[in-house]
Amino acid sequence: MTTSAASSEPPRLAIIGAGSMGSGLAALFALRGFPVVLVDPVEGALARADAAIDRQLAALATPEQARAARARLVPATAQAAAAQAELVIEAVPEKLELKRRIFAELDALCPQRTVLATNTSGLSVNAIAVAVSPERRKRFVGAHFFSPADVIPLVEVVRGDSTDEASSGFVMDVLRQAGKRPVLVRRDIPGFIANRIQHALAREAISLLEKGVASAADIDEVVRWSLGIRLALTGPLEQRDLNGIDVHHAIASYLYADLENRTTPAPLMAGMVERGEIGAKAGQGFYPWPAEQRERHLADKSQALTELAAWLQQREAQ
Ligand SMILES: NC(=O)c1ccc[n+]([C@@H]2O[C@H](COP(=O)([O-])OP(=O)(O)OC[C@H]3O[C@@H](n4cnc5c(N)ncnc54)[C@H](O)[C@@H]3O)[C@@H](O)[C@H]2O)c1
Repeated sequence: MTTSAASSEPPRLAIIGAGSMGSGLAALFALRGFPVVLVDPVEGALARADAAIDRQLAALATPEQARAARARLVPATAQAAAAQAELVIEAVPEKLELKRRIFAELDALCPQRTVLATNTSGLSVNAIAVAVSPERRKRFVGAHFFSPADVIPLVEVVRGDSTDEASSGFVMDVLRQAGKRPVLVRRDIPGFIANRIQHALAREAISLLEKGVASAADIDEVVRWSLGIRLALTGPLEQRDLNGIDVHHAIASYLYADLENRTTPAPLMAGMVERGEIGAKAGQGFYPWPAEQRERHLADKSQALTELAAWLQQREAQ
């Protein structure tokens, strides 16, 4: 087990996969002083990542800081470039067999002390970890970042059945050093914490839309300006304390029976996927997304999220 996260020297990192998450993570860690190798063998992927990293650094840092970050970031097409890293974070597409293949290679390439982390959104950490040796499984964790990876502070650090405390602790230290807010998920449960809660909320929102209770814009308006604005300051459990658990219990007693509880995706959503109406990237989702409006919207949201996260963290530090 490496200990350099506790010392002043940031440990060497490797990010496998230079897509939207991998490029964001590379920019973030390099900016925070970590030497980073960014590996992607797919034709054109590193060039696309390069442009994305430039945009991210321009938004987050001064030109001087951006240049220093760039100097710490080494792109590579061969996985062997990850062999010197103390922590490897995988961010390749969400396919179990691909992830397993990559970790089997990393297990063979990296020294025994290297900690391996997967940024899977919801695949089982244990199911991916079968690809590495039983000894390495102690140093295998989930590190679930949120998009945009360089902006959202929280990371779920997920322990598999074999993960030892030193390894999850090491990953949490590295993340804190990078300015993140890691939370330990003590066991490998599908969707971890955030996606379980996000999907419970989205299942009900889609069901309300399907039943014609309100328009998509009105459902979003209700959530944003009631629960949403409050959630930025108060989690759902603390909020129950504030509202009164007796009140919540009384409402839960009659409401739960009426809530959406289907165990497969809504027909409305399945139809949208079939028609290719898959959201902003396709020009149509619950809303229309003309290309020029989409770009402006994404840039504006990213900027606003950065400012909001900074404001909330500053406020909390007071
Ligand atoms: N996008 C999100 O909002 C989000 C949030 C949290 C977690 N995740 C998870 O992060 C992972 C990556 O997601 P993404 O959105 O960045 O995907 P993406 O498709 O944008 O990027 C994946 C990258 O992996 C590369 N790749 C493919 N095969 C590879 C290989 N053999 N070796 C190295 N690189 C390879 C691709 O070229 C691509 O650049 C997924 O597991 C996803 O579920 C995504």
